[in-house]
Amino acid sequence: QTKDTVSITEVGPRDGLQNEPNIIALSTKIQLLERLKEAGCSSIEAGAFVSPKWTPQMADSAQVFAELAKQRADQTAQSRSNSKVTYSALIPNIKGLEQAMLSPPDKIAVFTAASETFSQKNTNCSIQIGNERVNDIIKALKTYAPNQTIPVRGYISCVAGCPYEGNIAPSVVIKQAEHLLAAGCTEIALGDTIGVGTAKQIQSLINDLARSIPVSKIVVHFHDTYGQALANILASLEVGVRQIDTSVAGLGGCPYAKGATGNVATEDVVFLMRGMGLETGIDIDALAATGHWICQTLGISNRSRAGQALHAK
Ligand code: HMG
Ligand code: MG
Repeated sequence: QTKDTVSITEVGPRDGLQNEPNIIALSTKIQLLERLKEAGCSSIEAGAFVSPKWTPQMADSAQVFAELAKQRADQTAQSRSNSKVTYSALIPNIKGLEQAMLSPPDKIAVFTAASETFSQKNTNCSIQIGNERVNDIIKALKTYAPNQTIPVRGYISCVAGCPYEGNIAPSVVIKQAEHLLAAGCTEIALGDTIGVGTAKQIQSLINDLARSIPVSKIVVHFHDTYGQALANILASLEVGVRQIDTSVAGLGGCPYAKGATGNVATEDVVFLMRGMGLETGIDIDALAATGHWICQTLGISNRSRAGQALHAK
């Protein structure tokens, strides 16, 4: 990765749709993924193999990944290499991994928290048990794919604050990040789940983390609840972060964090990056059209400011 490139992971199909009150048709999910690919998104979190009792919106993730595998099998070798998209899936435990490996994702994502209460609410277990599950998943992954290295993202929720516990000490986040790396995670995604972080706090957290973790392995995953996400992304870029999670049209929220809104909108981030001369590979007009389409299809309002402005043009 060169210095003037930023890698965006589009998490709308997972983090965005998981919080929609209505169940979304499989065909809408497939069309969303197709349109995001066409707009130039090269890394997409496409689903989650979580309990359907906990997150019913993700219950058809096996079908989503089966369809992606089918599409890939139908492509010619030439077009496959031209349009290489990394599709990732969220995995909470061995059962989720078993289901995911029927149509293996290009990357998996395990998820933990820097708050005991959030860990309990989100995954029904303590941070320590959650870490043991991560170890089990990564060990099992090696037996599923012995000849292939599937990268593993490790999420940490509540890095800048918890909806139940309030302030979270940076030392807890650092300890958790070190654990995830030692367990075999190839990147660490810092989740500001409820969007309470502010620029200096985020910069200081990343600087502290960078003492034990290469900054190239850090991903920022900011929800925009308090309107701070773009400022926090800029602050993260200043200290060397080049991997950013975003959600088209700002879709989403978190079912275990009341009042939390979606991730920062992809359109807004691409607009900022373009202005700064940082390449994302994403066509902002095609993206904005996709944002408008998915909001119309779901009957919700578009939370991307850039998306709304581009659509009004
Ligand atoms: P549990 O209820 O404690 O699980 O859930 P269990 O092991 O006791 O099993 C209970 C039942 O669930 C059993 O079925 C299992 O088979 C089934 P039964 O015998 O009763 O019929 N089960 C499963 N079914 C399908 N897939 C599975 C699975 N596992 C068990 N993988 C569990 C524990 C972790 C599974 C549950 O709490 C869960 O699914 N949690 C995920 C909730 C979620 O989706 N949260 C949102 C994603 S995280 C997020 O958004 C934050 C992030 O964006 C970063 C940020 O913003 O901070 C990543
Ligand atoms: Mg999230």
